[in-house]
Amino acid sequence: MKNSTPELMEKLVSLCKRRGFIFQSSEIYGGINGFWDYGPYGTAMKKAVEQLWWHEMVETRQNVEGLDSTVICHPKVWKASGHLDKFGDLMTDCRDCKARHRVDQMEDKSLCPGCGSKNLTEPREFNLMMKTYVGPVSDEDHAAYLRAETCQPIFVDFHLVRIAARQTLPFGIAQIGKAFRNEINPRNFIFRSREFTQMEMEFFCEDEEAMNWYEYWKNERIKYYREILGFGEDELKIHDHETLAHYAKAALDIEFKFPFGWGELEGVHHRGTWDLGRHQEFSGENLEYFDQEKNKKIMPTVIETSVGLDRTMLALLCHAYDEDSAETKKEGMQEDIRIVLRLPPRVAPVQAAILPLAKKLSENAEKLYKDISRFYRAEFDVTGSIGKRYRRQDEIGTPYCLTFDFDSLNDNSVTVRDRDSMKQERVSTDQLKSYLDKLVYNI
Ligand code: GAP
Repeated sequence: MKNSTPELMEKLVSLCKRRGFIFQSSEIYGGINGFWDYGPYGTAMKKAVEQLWWHEMVETRQNVEGLDSTVICHPKVWKASGHLDKFGDLMTDCRDCKARHRVDQMEDKSLCPGCGSKNLTEPREFNLMMKTYVGPVSDEDHAAYLRAETCQPIFVDFHLVRIAARQTLPFGIAQIGKAFRNEINPRNFIFRSREFTQMEMEFFCEDEEAMNWYEYWKNERIKYYREILGFGEDELKIHDHETLAHYAKAALDIEFKFPFGWGELEGVHHRGTWDLGRHQEFSGENLEYFDQEKNKKIMPTVIETSVGLDRTMLALLCHAYDEDSAETKKEGMQEDIRIVLRLPPRVAPVQAAILPLAKKLSENAEKLYKDISRFYRAEFDVTGSIGKRYRRQDEIGTPYCLTFDFDSLNDNSVTVRDRDSMKQERVSTDQLKSYLDKLVYNI
């Protein structure tokens, strides 16, 4: 595992661009800091990771419902959540070199970390909310904000979802969507950007049960990283928060060992009754829940799991990146080292590549591609030597290459090459689906 070397980050950024996973937004205009575009393979992988989370958190649970809210909400939502009054960092500007710094990150609060000058402005609060205007008039009465987290609309829609889905406590509401923060210092590739995707689940329960649910969700989420995404013991750690928000009883971060150090991947938070309470206060609507057993109204307590999709992508790519020298010559290649993304097959952008050995075989091989692509993300590639095609598939993390050769015409079989072991096995085409199902989904 090479995920702690700083050079890995450079190699990864370069691979992501070269192979069309991720690149700077608006690159032909010089790029825009903190914004990233996902290319063809990046998009395929991102959709797969998103679908995997949704499957594990919503589709396989009777007590979690889905939501897809708007990015722009009523501005009062952000007043109630506290984002408009306090969501940002204390910043100071250097009058000499003009650099802007976060005060909490400065070792010496009276010296510019850039040029060493003492000529700094008084620290000022810098709000991270992105602002826009709704309607034809751009004045304060028409100001609105792009959501800074996906969970607030979940609280706002709590009642509507609960009633429509006929849920009783305890139950959760999940949402995947874009969030926007005007980060002062976007950095480390897609780790901290200004536009990103969050996958959040808010679980509503009775206060007496909340700590049990906190433990439950913490364990579920760790299990997900270890057993489904395959992260190792040495790649993950839990960081329990020492200081808590006044309404919270517990909070932790699940951290991943990125090449630049440990970084937060996901937060599991006990949010108390704060959010529903604030939206009740600011909207004037009663958001309490009628507890039939207790025969009284209660304000549910919330346990949240919140993860960035882009950070999950980065963690997966760091985890997967490898260089090996295993028997590359056997496949007719000159170079000693191959780059390989050892992605879990469930999230690999291409799960099966169909490679006809010669152009003449294209027509028949394409029929196989049509069959396989009904069940798996598949790619058809006929250009270049077979060794070069294997190498290309290794670099994008394709777990299985299906080589269609002249014998395939007679025996209806293909050679399946395993990305990691590079071992090859002859498999009959009518067995291929069950063969791949076993490897990819273990079914
Ligand atoms: N609702 C709680 C919440 O938003 P957060 O710790 O601010 O909590 C949750 O964000 C997750 O969202 C983080 O663990 C991280 O994965 C992701 N995230 C936050 N800011 C991000 C940014 N600027 N770029 C990419 N991902 C970010």
